[in-house]
Amino acid sequence: MHTPLVELRLNQSAVGKVYAKLEMLNPFGMKDRAAKQIIMEAKKNGDLKDGTPIIESSSGTMALGLALVGTYLGHDVHIVTDPRTDKLTIAKLKALGCKIETVHEMSDRGWQSARLDRLDELLRNNPNAFCPHQYENIDNPRAYESLANEVLKELPEINILVASAGSGGSLCGTARALKKNNPNLRVVAVDAVGSVIFNQPDIPDRLQGGHGNSVVPRNVDFSIIDEVHWLNDEECFSATLELAQHEKIFAGNSSAAVYAVSRWISSQVPKGTNILTIFPDRGDRYHHTVYNEDYRKEKGMSNLFVPSSPKMVNYGEIVENWSFAYLQDEKEPVL
Ligand SMILES: Cc1ncc(COP(=O)(O)O)c(C=O)c1O
Repeated sequence: MHTPLVELRLNQSAVGKVYAKLEMLNPFGMKDRAAKQIIMEAKKNGDLKDGTPIIESSSGTMALGLALVGTYLGHDVHIVTDPRTDKLTIAKLKALGCKIETVHEMSDRGWQSARLDRLDELLRNNPNAFCPHQYENIDNPRAYESLANEVLKELPEINILVASAGSGGSLCGTARALKKNNPNLRVVAVDAVGSVIFNQPDIPDRLQGGHGNSVVPRNVDFSIIDEVHWLNDEECFSATLELAQHEKIFAGNSSAAVYAVSRWISSQVPKGTNILTIFPDRGDRYHHTVYNEDYRKEKGMSNLFVPSSPKMVNYGEIVENWSFAYLQDEKEPVL
């Protein structure tokens, strides 16, 4: 918490300024904030009793946040993961004292739903356990009020928020809090090609991690989102390499997807526009995937580049490359 806010260098086409909130510099990542809010609130209202376990499904950052706060406060923390979870995260979870449950087969609705099925089973067998249910727990988005307040102290005027969507907590929670200060805030979601959140077909073996989902979480508040962008795996990986090369920020691929989108938006807006982005995690756990040339080659990524601009589509049209659509009446927002 109290993470740094840095202005990005961008490129020659940039007009608006882009500021990145480096949530990656929390002890484990962005979800330390959400985990703390969820656990403290559950202890306060009696949903989490002393000594009872915490059980949740997560592929990374939420697991680490829950492990950090939950085990510190004396709770057993059980995490349901899938084989996509990297070894570094597993090592960190084990080091913190977490119990790990890995599902080995995806359901016909992908890995997330396989994990959620296993989570339901564990909760039935542990009736006293507390499940944070990050996809629908209102304390997930609420956690980002503190993020918004930290930013507003340093940057009182924010015109556009660009953030990735997984559970919807960080994007919608930050947007809701910022809108109290600026009701005209333009809210831009960044998703993965192959994620179902914004009316697209599922590609269960998509390679981008963190953002995107195979189910639509209740914490995605469509009523406050103006626009959504999707990047495919290769574009997202390329943006991750560019972020490290150009901005000197060694981050995960969700940070890079919002980097690419905010960089382009900064070239489309009037001077004086301030754009806020959120960078959720560090690059370390992607060293063997996004940052590994052999892995990229094996996955057929030979044209590593980010297009200079996205394609505009109607909401509901199926996308394969970097594209965007307006959600609210499909009208271009007026700044
Ligand atoms: C690395 C990373 N980026 C982005 C997200 C999306 O954040 P949210 O769940 O708040 O939508 C997540 C969620 O787990 C994540 O782990």
